[in-house]
Formats: sequence, structure tokens, C-alpha cells
Amino acid sequence: MDATPSSALSTAKADWFRAFRLIASPFRIRDERGGDTAAREVLLDTAFGPSRLGKTCERLREGRRAASGLSFVAVADGVLVGTVRLWDVEIGDRAGLMLGPIAVDGRLRSAGIGRALMDHALRRARKLGHKGVILVGDAPYYARFGFDPALTEGFDLPGPVERARFLGLELTAGGLKGARGRIVGTGALVEDARGSRRAA
Ligand SMILES: CC(C)(COP(=O)(O)OP(=O)(O)OC[C@H]1O[C@@H](n2cnc3c(N)ncnc32)[C@H](O)[C@@H]1OP(=O)(O)O)[C@@H](O)C(=O)NCCC(=O)NCCS
Repeated sequence: MDATPSSALSTAKADWFRAFRLIASPFRIRDERGGDTAAREVLLDTAFGPSRLGKTCERLREGRRAASGLSFVAVADGVLVGTVRLWDVEIGDRAGLMLGPIAVDGRLRSAGIGRALMDHALRRARKLGHKGVILVGDAPYYARFGFDPALTEGFDLPGPVERARFLGLELTAGGLKGARGRIVGTGALVEDARGSRRAA
């Protein structure tokens, strides 16, 4: 049945009320859980569009699990409103992490959720003993967390990258010093339903 003007109005009112409640609610950061997958995918599709899976960094993630204990979500009013993950990589002969993607619900941007996700994720990575993090992203945003393109000068990715967006952060003093070479994904492979290993 077609929507009548009054039913369209009540839907718009309900949407507005939901958005208002979301914006007015405090957010919290917690570990990502299995049940978050669908909402996280919708958030990422909305933030980056369908081309997100064609990015060079995806070559390091595809077919692999994120680094153990390093996937987080932001939740407000019971709704998943932010996500960040870190991934195990090898930089030459050095173990490291790659951060991304990070995204926040468009209705709640500039409210500190991105900073809270980044601070939480980097603090946990440090606590777990990781030494360095790389990412590809907007340098003006990540500079506030200490990311610097100078730290990735000797590194290559398995695809094209704008060098100015290819950033590194040391979690321990000299954590990326002396590392050189091709970055490869080293995370555990995702097992498919039959228990066999899916190609990365
Ligand atoms: C980037 C993102 C995660 C930040 O989340 P957020 O919750 O809005 O971040 P915060 O509230 O902690 O910080 C907001 C600040 O970052 C700035 N900012 C946001 N995105 C930025 C970008 N791409 N480049 C530079 N600055 C940026 C905002 O202007 C704001 O500045 P202010 O503090 O001076 O007002 C969010 O904007 C987002 O999901 N963007 C779309 C997905 C995306 O592009 N992710 C990767 C970025 S490379």
C-alpha cells in the first residue's frame, strides 16, 4: 500500500525523534562483538561507499582476522555509531599494526567519538606491547594523534598509495626505526563455515 501524507509525516517524526535521542545520548567505547558485524558494515558503507573494498589497505585485511583484542565500537543509545580496528602486519622483518577503517556515524561527527576511538585503540595496542602503527588516511586528522608520513618513508604497500597519506606512529621509542620494505598482512586467516581456510 502507498504511504499516505500522514504516514510519511509520522515516519519522518519517528526518524527525527530517534536522531534526537541518539545525539542527546552519551556514547561509550567497548570491544567489538560478533553481533556488531551487520551494523558495522552499514556504517562503513555509508561512510566510505562501495569502493571501500578496492582500497590498497584492503589487500592487507582481506581474508584475515583483525588483531587480537584490537577491534572497538562506539555505542550511543544502543546504536553502533563508531568503529575502528587494527590489523597485524609485517613491515620488512618487523611486526606492526595497521589501523583502519575508522568511521563515525555522520549524525554524531565532531563530538569526540573519533578521538575516543583512536585514544582507546592506541592505548590498548601499547598495553599489548605493539611497537608501531601504520595507516593510510588524511594526515591533518591523524597528526593530532602523532601520525607522521616521515615514519613510512622506507615502506611499500601492495598497491598504489599517496605518500602524504601514508602515515606511521611509534608506540614505543624507536618502534619503527630501521624497518624497511613491503608491508604484508599477517593476521590469522578467516575460517569459512566448513572449517577450511579461505584464501587471503
Ligand atoms: C574521521 C572521523 C572518524 C572523525 O570522527 P569524529 O567523531 O568526527 O572525530 P572527532 O570528534 O574526534 O574530531 C573532530 C575533528 O576532526 C576534524 N576532522 C574530521 N575528519 C577530518 C579529516 N578527514 N581531515 C581533517 N580533519 C578532520 C573535524 O573537523 C573536527 O575538527 P575540530 O576538532 O577542530 O572541530 C569521521 O569524520 C568519519 O567517520 N569520517 C568519514 C570516514 C573517514 O573519512 N574516515 C577516515 C578518515 S581518513
